[in-house]
This record gives sequence, C-alpha cells and structure tokens, in this order.
Amino acid sequence: MTRREAAAAFFGMVAGSPLLPREVRAQIDQPYQHGYIPPLEDLVNIFEFDPICRMRLPKQNYDYIATGVDNEWSLRRNREAFDKITFRPRMLVNASDLDLSLDLFGTKLSFPVLIAPTAGHGLAHPDGELATAGGAAALETVLILSTNSSHPYEKVVEATKFPKWFQLYPGPDLEGTWDRLDRVASLGFKVLVLTVDAGYSARRERLMRNRIRPAVPAPASTGARRRRTREEEPEVPSRPKFYGLGTTLMHQLDWNFFDELKKRWNGPVLVKGILTGEDGDLAARHGADGVIVSNHGARYLEYAPSTIEVLPEIVDAVQGRLPVLIDGGFRRGTDVLKALAIGATAVCVGRPPLWGLGAYGEPGVKRVLELLRTELALAMGLCGRRNLKSIDRSVLRMG
Ligand SMILES: Cc1cc2nc3c(=O)[nH]c(=O)nc-3n(C[C@H](O)[C@H](O)[C@H](O)COP(=O)(O)O)c2cc1C
Repeated sequence: MTRREAAAAFFGMVAGSPLLPREVRAQIDQPYQHGYIPPLEDLVNIFEFDPICRMRLPKQNYDYIATGVDNEWSLRRNREAFDKITFRPRMLVNASDLDLSLDLFGTKLSFPVLIAPTAGHGLAHPDGELATAGGAAALETVLILSTNSSHPYEKVVEATKFPKWFQLYPGPDLEGTWDRLDRVASLGFKVLVLTVDAGYSARRERLMRNRIRPAVPAPASTGARRRRTREEEPEVPSRPKFYGLGTTLMHQLDWNFFDELKKRWNGPVLVKGILTGEDGDLAARHGADGVIVSNHGARYLEYAPSTIEVLPEIVDAVQGRLPVLIDGGFRRGTDVLKALAIGATAVCVGRPPLWGLGAYGEPGVKRVLELLRTELALAMGLCGRRNLKSIDRSVLRMG
C-alpha cells in the first residue's frame, strides 16, 4: 500500500465515523481544499468536480455557476427530493446486453442525458462552448446552446458537427427575437428550446454581495466576444414603483407568442420551465413538441418545487402526447433512472458539465458525461432493465 492509499483509507474511515460531528466530517470530505488538483482519472463521481472547479475559477465566476436564489431552499430541494425514492429491483432477468440509446427529435443519442442550456461557458474555461460541444459530441449527446453563449453561435457550429439544439430567450424585442431565429435557422439548428421561466430578473444574493460581474477569461484568439454575464436578455425598464425590480421581454408574453413562434420555426419546439400539469397540458394543446420540466436550476423562483417531485403530475397531464424532459439536481445515474421510471424521456444536466469544464476543460466535460452514463448503465443493470423501453414506474417505490 502506498502512502497516499494509506492516507486515503484512513481519512475515508474517519470521515465515515458517526462519532464525528457532521461539520468535521464535511471538512474531511473536502479532500481538495489545500490546492491539490488530482489527475482526472482519479475522480470517481461528479460531485468531486465541483470543489476543483471552485479552486480553479475566480470567486465571482464560480458563484455565478453555483448560485440559487434567496435562501437556496429550492436548490437543496432539487437534490434532497431524490432521497425519497427507492428502487424495486427485479432479479434473474437477463440484463447482459445493456442499451441506453434513444432517438430524440431525429437525433440519435448514446444515452438519455443532454447538456442543459447554460449561459457563458467562457466563465468556466476559455474554450467555453467549443469544449462543451466537443464533450457532448464525443459522448454522442446534445449540447443545447444557450442564447447567451460566450462564443458566437457560428464558431460553435463550426467546431463540431454533432446536432445542436438552440435555447431561446425572447428579446430584446419581438423584431430582435425573429432576427435571432433566422440567424440560428440558417446555421442549421433544428430543435428550438423556448425558456419561459425567466420573465423577471432573479435576486441572486451571492452575486449581489460580490458587487462585481464575473470576469471573462476567454482570450481574443478564440474569437470570443466579451459577453453579458446575466442569463437574461437586456432588461425592459420596469415601472419605478418596485425598487430594483428587473424584467425581460418574457414577462409580457403569453401562449399567443408561442403560437407565433411555432409558425415561424420549421422544426420541433420545446417549452422549458414547466412545473405544473396545467402548463404541460397547455403546451401539448398549443402543439409544443416537448416540454422540459425545470425550475431553472433553482435560479429564479424560490420555493419552486423540486422537479423530480412534480414530474409525475406533468407526465400524467400530458398523457404521452409529447416527450417530457427534465432537469434540476441530476448528479447520479440513479437520479436519471428515477426520472425515466416516472416517465421522463431524457434528463438534462446544467452545472455538472460546467464543473468538468472549469476543472479540466473538454476532457472534464467528457468524463462527467461518461461517469453519468456508466452509473446509469449500472443502475439499470442492477434493476434488471436492459433498455429504456423496459423502464416504467414499477421500478420505483415512491415516498
Ligand atoms: C450557470 C447557469 C447558467 C444558466 N443559463 C441558462 C440559460 O442561458 N438558459 C436557460 O434556459 N437556462 C439556463 N440555466 C438553467 C439550466 O438550463 C438548467 O435548467 C439547470 O442548470 C438545471 O439544474 P442543474 O444545474 O442542477 O443541473 C442556467 C443554469 C446555470 C447553473
């Protein structure tokens, strides 16, 4: 046994001891706090990328990725809700030939996990979206490119040929919105994701306390522009009666806007940010091609429910009329299996690829996705489910 292995075994044992106060255990669980960056191959799960990313980035950049809103109750709830669900694994089922692949809106994916749209990957690494798109393509999955990409859409499209989907924030006005649609259509984007949960600017207190905007490390040589660091489109001035209240074009829009968007976009349109059965039903009635159940990574409405808790309500309301995707706190293969079992078609991850990117660049993005894929395969195999078709609610024990 090497010295390092001995130390790891010792700290592992001590950290697991129930005699230690929780705070002390948490400190020992943070092995990288002294500046040691382990080789990528040493990381055994997704959570371990977070503290390394934190060490590598300027504080304000890391805070931008990590932040929720207010007391960050919804942020914690997105994770904790998974603990209420356990499995009903079946035995003596031949699960030798695992197949995690699926076809989603004409895109063939190697497993049902996509990269959620997140703004400003240049905050995590100068390669930004070029690296996340590369990581997604390597694992045969999709990057949903954010309206607020650090790199020009054109460059991201050039960098990888794998199908990309585009996330739209309407704005700055309707004309600007339609212009942007034309631009991304001409770049070959086929699937559009309309985000509907960000009509008012959130108060992210971690960022308000920093008082400065995140630094952008993207070098000029990559062609990256200095970008706005907010996720929102430019704010629409609000009436002065609410001090400091910021809004976006979205706060004036309704389902008529969606109908118009559907007419103008020649391809599937998904609605991202659905949290109730009523809105899932409305999306289906208005001809949406899919919904993404999301509370925006707990970055807008505090006390929005965790997404896994409302997933059954939405799956039941849409009754198979359209695919239901979900994001929010997915960090384990078992988390993904739980959503699939409830009836989700696929899952998106927001922060984890950014942790991978910030910690190790493109290889980190790949490893995060690889870990998730392997964990999902393991969970499916142990539950006796060899492909996605064989996963249904009988896999779960809820509550
Ligand atoms: C740093 C960051 C930036 C984000 N930017 C966007 C965005 O530009 N557009 C969007 O629709 N959602 C955005 N989101 C929300 C994500 O698409 C997704 O809903 C959320 O991150 C999922 O939760 P998770 O981070 O726990 O996986 C952002 C989330 C984060 C963490």
